[in-house]
Amino acid sequence: MVRITSATLVAFAAGAIGAPQGTITRRQSPGGCDAAVKLDASTNVWDNYKLHANSYYRSEVEAAAAQMSGAAAEAALRVADIGTFLWADTIANIDRIEPALQDVPCDEIFGLVVYDLPGRDCAAKASNGELPVGAIDRYKSEYIDALATLLKKYPNQAFALVIEPDSLPNLVTNMDLQTCQDSAAGYREGVAYAFEKLNLPNVVMYVDAGHGGWLGWPDNLQPGAQELANVYKAAGSPSQVRGIAINVSGWNQWDMVPGEFANDPDGQWNKAENEKKYLELFSPLLEQNGMPGNAIVDTGRNGQSGGRLEWGDWCNVVDAGFGARPTSDVNSQWADAFVWVKPGGESDGTSDSSAVRYDSFCGRPDAFKPSPEAGTWNQAYFEMLIENANPAI
Ligand code: GLC
Repeated sequence: MVRITSATLVAFAAGAIGAPQGTITRRQSPGGCDAAVKLDASTNVWDNYKLHANSYYRSEVEAAAAQMSGAAAEAALRVADIGTFLWADTIANIDRIEPALQDVPCDEIFGLVVYDLPGRDCAAKASNGELPVGAIDRYKSEYIDALATLLKKYPNQAFALVIEPDSLPNLVTNMDLQTCQDSAAGYREGVAYAFEKLNLPNVVMYVDAGHGGWLGWPDNLQPGAQELANVYKAAGSPSQVRGIAINVSGWNQWDMVPGEFANDPDGQWNKAENEKKYLELFSPLLEQNGMPGNAIVDTGRNGQSGGRLEWGDWCNVVDAGFGARPTSDVNSQWADAFVWVKPGGESDGTSDSSAVRYDSFCGRPDAFKPSPEAGTWNQAYFEMLIENANPAI
């Protein structure tokens, strides 16, 4: 039997949550609960669901632990039990999802990152995607439609989706780049399509909204809120869109005051000194523009501050550590939960300056070297994240 709290029981009795329904037992067959899941995205689903520790990341972590010994290896294995999102970062890697759905208890939600827009990562090179600018039809039919089919095949399983990291924020601040100009129409159309097609009862969606050091600047807040809300409204304001994901693959602190970059020459001009403050500034603007402003916050790698030389540095930051564990106990008007979106140990980008996808950010003095291609395992970096974890693992 799944343990449920009395608060959960009350919520069931009051009909405040639609899932899990029926007899509250561990699933009898693959795919979550023994009845269809209906998530109410006007509520915080993380109060009733725990982020699932997926078997894909578990196998990466177990392979890493096998290369370690003693207390470090034991700590590494504990990371495998911490809820983490799975990234569907190519059409082919959709195949990673289904095997990972076979062991999900009814009271856990499966975190999935939707990340394959045409002309992906338009302002950087490390995560350039497989689909070229203009391949919006392939994105729709081979990627989003395939995901929708899969999520419909598992109606008894709850899913939390992070929609397309970096995409809409890039259209707010990087339109001076030809690559982002070229990508813009496909990003807007693609995200709207994802919103519409993945708007399923067993799904709750959060679209990426960068972080406080990005859209938190005064000149970016209102345009950022408009950009996101316009796409949301173009998709018909889908019921299962709950709000935004922030600090995805990021390094910002949640509520550090003064902020990590308060002493930067221009840091004083950005009032979003931490992610909590970013939400207090950005979420009300989203709501004014007609979009829900609730958020999940990636705390996967923000256990330490001080590693970055500049706020905008994003690649394999040195001296980082695993951060707060996934929880809905966050004491914030706007945040639903802390979650681990970036699978700690997977690289942000290669440090090999001769590689096609080399981005100069991955060569900066505050970027860990050597580092492999984005998404691939970096054993030394993983071990560092454990050593520097806060709270300790
Ligand atoms: C980067 C990579 C992507 C990977 C993700 C999670 O964005 O480009 O391939 O899945 O990080 O590690």
